[in-house]
Amino acid sequence: MSFDLSICCMGAGYVGGPTMAVIAKNCPNIRVCVVDLNAKQIDAWNSAELPIYEPGLKEVVESCRGKNLFFSTSIESEIALADIVFISVNTPTKTQGIGAGRAANIKNCELCARTIAKVATTNKIVVEKSTVPVRTADAVRRVLACNDKGLEFQVLSNPEFLAEGTAIDDLEKPSRVLIGGEETPGGQAAIAKLVSVYANWVPSSQIITTNLWSSELSKLVANAFLAQRVSSINSISALCESTGADVSEISRAIGSDPRIGPRFLQSSVGFGGSCFQKDILNLVYLCETFGLDECAEYWHQVIKMNDYQKSRFTQKMVSRMFNTATGKKIAILGFAFKKDTGDTRETASAFVCRDLMQEKARLHVYDPQVKREQMMIEFDYTLNVNTTTEPDLEKLITTETDVYKACEGAHAIAVLTEWDEFKGLDYERIYKGMSKPAFVFDGRNVVDIKTLREIGFEVYAIGKPW
Ligand code: NAD
Ligand code: UGA
Repeated sequence: MSFDLSICCMGAGYVGGPTMAVIAKNCPNIRVCVVDLNAKQIDAWNSAELPIYEPGLKEVVESCRGKNLFFSTSIESEIALADIVFISVNTPTKTQGIGAGRAANIKNCELCARTIAKVATTNKIVVEKSTVPVRTADAVRRVLACNDKGLEFQVLSNPEFLAEGTAIDDLEKPSRVLIGGEETPGGQAAIAKLVSVYANWVPSSQIITTNLWSSELSKLVANAFLAQRVSSINSISALCESTGADVSEISRAIGSDPRIGPRFLQSSVGFGGSCFQKDILNLVYLCETFGLDECAEYWHQVIKMNDYQKSRFTQKMVSRMFNTATGKKIAILGFAFKKDTGDTRETASAFVCRDLMQEKARLHVYDPQVKREQMMIEFDYTLNVNTTTEPDLEKLITTETDVYKACEGAHAIAVLTEWDEFKGLDYERIYKGMSKPAFVFDGRNVVDIKTLREIGFEVYAIGKPW
């Protein structure tokens, strides 16, 4: 079959995979190939068990795979074939060197640009899909310009706003698509080309075009604003717990003001995920780089409040359990950073587990989507907790596939991810099997406090009087 256009996406992760699958589904005349250095990842995309869990993703992939959607490790030949190359690789916070702990590492983006410059034989549009520091497009453009074949590349910024757990819906019905490009005829033509791809399913009124730098920076600002709302309501949750006000009532009361709006006012044990912290740190570093220390400190406070929220939760748990968790069995319900995903990156649950392990509690963790191996990777990667730093790690953490078994004989339950199934558990049955007093610590406000108290539980929930 012949296609009108060919797209190659470098990076088959949480963004590259779903985004390209939705493009393929909505554009049957476009050939889409997602490439990655990681052969295991590509094998999984080509198998019945996709590498990521995302509602609706499997159906979309299976409807297009092998027709106009392909997954491959043949990076160079797929780039050569493409008219448009998306860069959708990871851009983690630097762990060492200049800007360590703050700056985003864009080495993967630079590497992609170098590969494109090396293997391209025709002019191409190169699209930054990864979240990057403002002015990264300049670096990409300069690397591409070093190709020795006199080829022309247009660089566009097209940040992704999907949220995990709702990725397919977000991609099918995006609130907006943002495309930034150079204010030159070539830049504008490249923008028009990418607009025409999205226009296959996104109304043109929802496609926003800007200059490159506004587009790059808007992505960081969007995440900073969202995370700021969570930290703001979490700061109020602490005040509620001390005063008798109820944070859910406050969210409703203030969210009804259309100038504030209801979303992202759900108080929690803390935000997690691969991007909020990373992108705010990236913004903080940019502010510092330009000598804007007050601006840097303003945004840094969003992260400090999140750290406070995570440690505050564990401290309160321990204090309620008579100031000791040593040897106690605690059922941890949820390890993913939010419901409907198996992603554990920066999950608040890992921080709470770490702090409880330091108290020598015995943790029985249940999460419908997260396997033990993934939990251990998260401890090691984000928290540097491994069998060297915590010799009892293997003994302190038991992973359960049955939520009732996780709760059997426990002194306390901590709800750390808002999976819907935690609302409908047979809490009478759970209560009967637990040590008494039986505590429930709800870090997500999912349980029905009144019903649980009637059963006999001692219930403490974020932002409710403790
Ligand atoms: P990810 O870690 O899930 O996937 C990135 C993939 O890129 C990996 O599979 C890796 O092997 C591959 N890769 C790295 N270097 C490569 C190279 N040179 N050539 C080919 N493949 C390469 O990351 P992700 O969550 O998909 O995020 C990607 C980017 O999108 C990041 O900048 C992130 O900030 C941004 N973003 C993520 C989300 C999200 O929900 N996860 C949402 C919006 C934006
Ligand atoms: C977030 C943004 O919502 C996306 O627009 C963005 O594209 C993405 O980051 C990214 O750049 O990676 P994501 O991290 O997948 O998406 O999930 P969110 O729904 O934003 O939740 C982030 C964290 O905040 C979760 O831990 C969630 O539980 C927490 N949260 C969210 C709250 O605690 N309260 C809320 O009211 C909302």
